[in-house]
Amino acid sequence: MRTGRAGTADAVGAQAAVRRTFAVISHPDAGKSTLTEALALHGGAITEAGHVKGKAGRRGVVSDWQDMEKDRGISISSAALQFTWSGHVVNLVDTPGHADFSEDTYRVLTAVDCAVMLVDAAKGMERQTMKLFEVCRLRGMPVVTVVNKWDRPGHDALALMDEIADRTGMIPTPVTWPVGIAGDFRGVVDRREAELSYVAYTRTAGGATLAPQQRMDAAAAAEREGDAWETAVEETDLLAATGAEHDRTAFLAGATTPVLFASAVLNFGVDQLLEVLLAEAPAPAPRPGTDGSARELAGGFSGQVFKVQSGMDKAHRDRVAFLRVASGRFERGMTVTSSRTRRVVTTKYAHRVFGAERSGVDDAWPGDVVAIVNTGGVRVGDTLYEGKPVEYPPIPSFAPEHFAVARAKDLGRYKQFQRGVTELHHEGVVQTLRSDLRGEQSPVLAAVGPMQFDVVAHRMAGEYSCPVDLDLLPFTLARRTTADDAPTLARIPGVEVLTSTDGTLLAVFPDRWRLQRIERDHPGLVLEPLAAGTSD
Ligand code: G4P
Repeated sequence: MRTGRAGTADAVGAQAAVRRTFAVISHPDAGKSTLTEALALHGGAITEAGHVKGKAGRRGVVSDWQDMEKDRGISISSAALQFTWSGHVVNLVDTPGHADFSEDTYRVLTAVDCAVMLVDAAKGMERQTMKLFEVCRLRGMPVVTVVNKWDRPGHDALALMDEIADRTGMIPTPVTWPVGIAGDFRGVVDRREAELSYVAYTRTAGGATLAPQQRMDAAAAAEREGDAWETAVEETDLLAATGAEHDRTAFLAGATTPVLFASAVLNFGVDQLLEVLLAEAPAPAPRPGTDGSARELAGGFSGQVFKVQSGMDKAHRDRVAFLRVASGRFERGMTVTSSRTRRVVTTKYAHRVFGAERSGVDDAWPGDVVAIVNTGGVRVGDTLYEGKPVEYPPIPSFAPEHFAVARAKDLGRYKQFQRGVTELHHEGVVQTLRSDLRGEQSPVLAAVGPMQFDVVAHRMAGEYSCPVDLDLLPFTLARRTTADDAPTLARIPGVEVLTSTDGTLLAVFPDRWRLQRIERDHPGLVLEPLAAGTSD
C-alpha cells in the first residue's frame, strides 16, 4: 500500500471542495457560445473574445472542429473548459448548440452538478430551454438562471420573473437586478448583501476584453444613475415583498433559482455569475451507484463515460471517451476496469479537450472531465474504476422521434457499413434498430433530431468510406411492446415493430392519433412509453 493514503484522501476532499462543474442550457441563439467565451476570457483561457461574430467565422474555443460543424456553424461535439478562478477550479461542460443534438445535452447533464439556464431577454422562456430545464428538474439538479442580452431591447424584468415562475414552477430569486431597462444596461443592483450596492459596467470595444466594473453604495448609485437607480430599487423592494430572496437550501432542492442579468457579448455580469456559482452551486459529492450505495469521494478513482467521439483528430482516426471523475484521483496511465465488460482499460493518453485544443492531463479530481483517447470498447454510460468495483446508473436515453432506413450505397462495402453503424450506435450518435421486414442489411436508425442522420451520412462517407442512403420513415412515436403482442401490431397497417440491440421490441407509429386509435381498438396490447434511461 502506498504511504500517505490518508493524505490522498484529504487531497481528494480538498480538491473536490474547490471544484464547480456545470453546463449552460439554452435555446439556440440565446448566447451560450458567447457566454462560454466570456467565461473563458474571465478564466484566462483566452485573452480576447469576439470570435463568435458571424457564426461562419467563429474560431477557437467553440467546439466546431468537424467539417459539418464548420459548414453549418453549429457545434455538435461537447467538451469541457477548465479554468481556475478565485481559488476554485471551474469546469464548464459544453453542450451542443443545435436542438437536434439535445440527446447529447441530456448526457452532458449527467456529468455536471449544476445548470446555468440562459434566457434571451427579448424571447423569454423558449421551447428548448423548457425541454432542457425539465431534464434538470427530473434529475434534481439546481439551476441558476441568467437573463442574457440585457444590452438589447427586451421584456420588462419583472415580467420575465413572472414568466420564469409560471413556466418552471421555480421561484426566481434575483441576486442581481438590472439598472436601466433592456437596451440600456448600465449595471446591476447587488442583492446578495443586506445593504444594496451597485455594480456599474463599462463597455469595451466590441466586448473583446473584460468589462471594467465599479462598485459603489446606494447613495453614489442614486447620484450617478438617477431615475434608473430609483426604479431598480423600487423593483427590488417589490421582489423583497414577495419573498423572492435567495435561500441556498431552497435552491439546492430545486424550489428556487437565483437569477442574474447579463450581456454575454459585453462581458457584463459574468463575474457575478462566477461568484454565485462558486458560493452557491454544489461541489462534487459522492454519487449513488446502481446498488444504491454511494462511493466516498476518497474511495478510490471512479468515473462515468458520458460521451464517446470518433474522428476528432483526422490524422489519427482516434476515438475519445469523455469521462467525469466521480470519486478519487485520476492519474494518467493508471489501469482502470470497465464495470460493464470487467475488462481493463488503459489511460495512457488522457487529455483535456476544448474545441480544437487538447492538452495532456496528469491527474484529475472529482468533478473534472477527462478525455481518454483510444479506449477500444468503452461506451457511453460505462463506469470505469480502480480497486473496489462500482457501477453508476445508466445514462438516460431519450425516446426517438425520427426514423430512417440505412443502406450502404455499395453493397460490397457491407463490412464497413456494419462497423460504422455499430460504432455510431455505441457513440450514441443514433440508435440502431433491427427490422425483420427489411433484414440485417437495412437497419433502421432512430434519432431525437433529424440532423443526427446528417451526421451519420457524413461520418459514414468520411470515416468509414461507406456512403449510405438514408430513407426517412413516416414514424414519430415509439412504444415498448412484448413478443406476444408484436405480431398483432406488425399486422396493423402503418405500424412496424423493430428490435433494439438489447432485445427490446419497439412498435413505431406515424402519429399520436394513430397510436390512440390502436390503443382504443386493441385495449389489451402492451404499449409502454419509453421512459428516460430504459432504452438502449
Ligand atoms: P448560441 O450558442 O446559444 O446559439 O448563441 P450564440 O452565442 O451563438 O449567440 C447568438 C447570437 O446572439 C450571436 O449573434 C451573438 O453575438 C448574439 N449575442 C449573444 N449574447 C449576446 C448579448 O449579450 N447581447 C447581444 N446584443 N447579443 C448577444 P450572431 O450569430 O453574430 O448574429 P447577429 O445577431 O449578431 O447577426
